Amino acid sequence: MNIIESEKDIKNYLKNKGPVAFIPTMGNLHDGHLSLIEEANKYTDTKVVSIFVNPLQFNEKVDFNIYPRTIESDIEILKKINIDVLFIPNGDILKNITKIKPSKKAKKLCGLNRPGHFSGVLTIVNKLFSLIKPKYAFFGKKDYQQYRLIKDFVNENNKNISIIGVKIYRDINGLALSSRNNLLSNDDKIIASNLYKSLSFIKENKDLLSKDLLNREIDKLNKTGLIIDYLESCNKNTFMQSYDSVNEDLLIAVAAKINNIRLIDNVVINKLL
Ligand code: PAF
Repeated sequence: MNIIESEKDIKNYLKNKGPVAFIPTMGNLHDGHLSLIEEANKYTDTKVVSIFVNPLQFNEKVDFNIYPRTIESDIEILKKINIDVLFIPNGDILKNITKIKPSKKAKKLCGLNRPGHFSGVLTIVNKLFSLIKPKYAFFGKKDYQQYRLIKDFVNENNKNISIIGVKIYRDINGLALSSRNNLLSNDDKIIASNLYKSLSFIKENKDLLSKDLLNREIDKLNKTGLIIDYLESCNKNTFMQSYDSVNEDLLIAVAAKINNIRLIDNVVINKLL
């Protein structure tokens, strides 16, 4: 595995390679990231992973500062699997960066309480795409809104990149894997797994889907010690609020805090074909 840090070197290295599969990350790699890499294996031989904790997408400095950084062990993990390049840019990557404004969908769900977050994500992803020029790029569906906005951005700007969404990787209790889970105690993790229990309950009761049903789940979750930011049911493509599981593909998305650590999760309810 080649470790490359400069923009010039990554461009040169990839010049004469075939189609590239790209897995952008912020490091602190876990099985969820590895499932993205495994999926990438199905597409092409040349795989590039990037690790960059992007300050542009954090709303609070303290959140950025405490974000888990484990570069040495990340390198060891990646050495054991079949990766061509690990790209670890430094802060210079942000110099003269073109700021990307996301579509209106960025204002919904996570965008409500995280202004500028998706602009920060798209800005760095666009920059990484311009350096790496991947044919395929892989994103976890835990960050469903991010995945959707990147897919829209690529389509709207005629970038010839296939954005592949990879299914959420969960621990044995159903908690969606996230680097932020490392900031939780074992007890917190058990409480946090109630998020998926609620989402699954809602999915099982999709025929009764309503604002009331979601409000009751919010109350239940708040009682477990979680502080719910939102629990919403919306069209999975437009993010417009909807409870119509017969005619629309729905996304039930939740964001919550436990001990000030922000977690998100979701389930999709596809309409009957
Ligand atoms: O999902 C993430 O880890 C980040 O948002 C990403 C896509 C690597 C951009 O910084």
